[in-house]
Amino acid sequence: MKLKIFVTRKLPEVALQLLEEHFEMRCNSEDRVLTQKEILDGTKWCDILLCLLTDVIDAKILRANPNLKAVINYAVGYNNIDIAEANKLKIPVTNTPGVLTDTTADMAWALMFAIGRRIVEADRYVRAGKFSGWQPMLMLGGDIYGKTLGIVGAGRIGAAVARRAAGFKMKIIYCDDEKNHEMEAECSAEKVELKSLLQQSDFVSLHVPLSPDTYHLISKQELELMKPTAYLINTARGAVVNEIDLLEALQNKTIAGAGLDVFEHEPELSAGLTRLDNVVLVPHIASASIDTRTKMAMMAANNAIVIKDRHTPPNLVNPEILNGGLKLSQ
Ligand code: DGY
Repeated sequence: MKLKIFVTRKLPEVALQLLEEHFEMRCNSEDRVLTQKEILDGTKWCDILLCLLTDVIDAKILRANPNLKAVINYAVGYNNIDIAEANKLKIPVTNTPGVLTDTTADMAWALMFAIGRRIVEADRYVRAGKFSGWQPMLMLGGDIYGKTLGIVGAGRIGAAVARRAAGFKMKIIYCDDEKNHEMEAECSAEKVELKSLLQQSDFVSLHVPLSPDTYHLISKQELELMKPTAYLINTARGAVVNEIDLLEALQNKTIAGAGLDVFEHEPELSAGLTRLDNVVLVPHIASASIDTRTKMAMMAANNAIVIKDRHTPPNLVNPEILNGGLKLSQ
């Protein structure tokens, strides 16, 4: 008999087809986030839950089905899942690392350009019929070439952002708990404290996962350390930044601008954010290329299949549960 998988939202077709070959599958047929009740019901029905970063997989969901064998997240970030509870219940959780690194790094750069060179604002200006010819002071922005890029979190994505800076002769500084020797060698990057990074950088790009340690890592005090000409780029998770403090910094122009792919209370935005010209807002699309979303889906499907076959999945985020073997073998 096939194991049952519950997929909380449609994924690229090729992955759904693969899952269908291996599992009895139920997939949300509507293009919307499921309610907690719907996720709960799906979880009660299934052996394996395949969910998205927009699904809150809390203790209630994890405890809903004593036979739940795995939670497969279709995202690299897994702050939407109560990992401590999954550990208690010995439920393996997987994510999709690596395949979205470059696409996300590209988006961080796209936001740097968009906000630094005022691309979105300029586009709105032209479309509004305001362009009356070249002007010496029209839409002056910040240079990228030759400036200092501060990377907060020098993991896979942070390093990929740094690597792209070579063509722009940027100085790279970073902060992280660990030294990234490869990035230092490849990008002449220098490890500094967060305070110093914020004081020196012309662009600060965030690449840390959301955890209790990084919640509101960038708040009023940190924003006040940034130069008034500096830009903040966030493609990590919204709550790494205190959005109200950022809003205030943008309104008061204590920093030059921000490029945001993620929001603290996504999809809600702090009131007033959309009225500002010195912020570029995109709807959590840093990994949204056709190739990358397909790779993420195939990786998620593969994690589920490997678990079904009673092997350790390649992208297990909580290896501590392995003590005593996978729950599948019980
Ligand atoms: C992730 O995977 O965590 C990104 O935020 C969405 O692609």
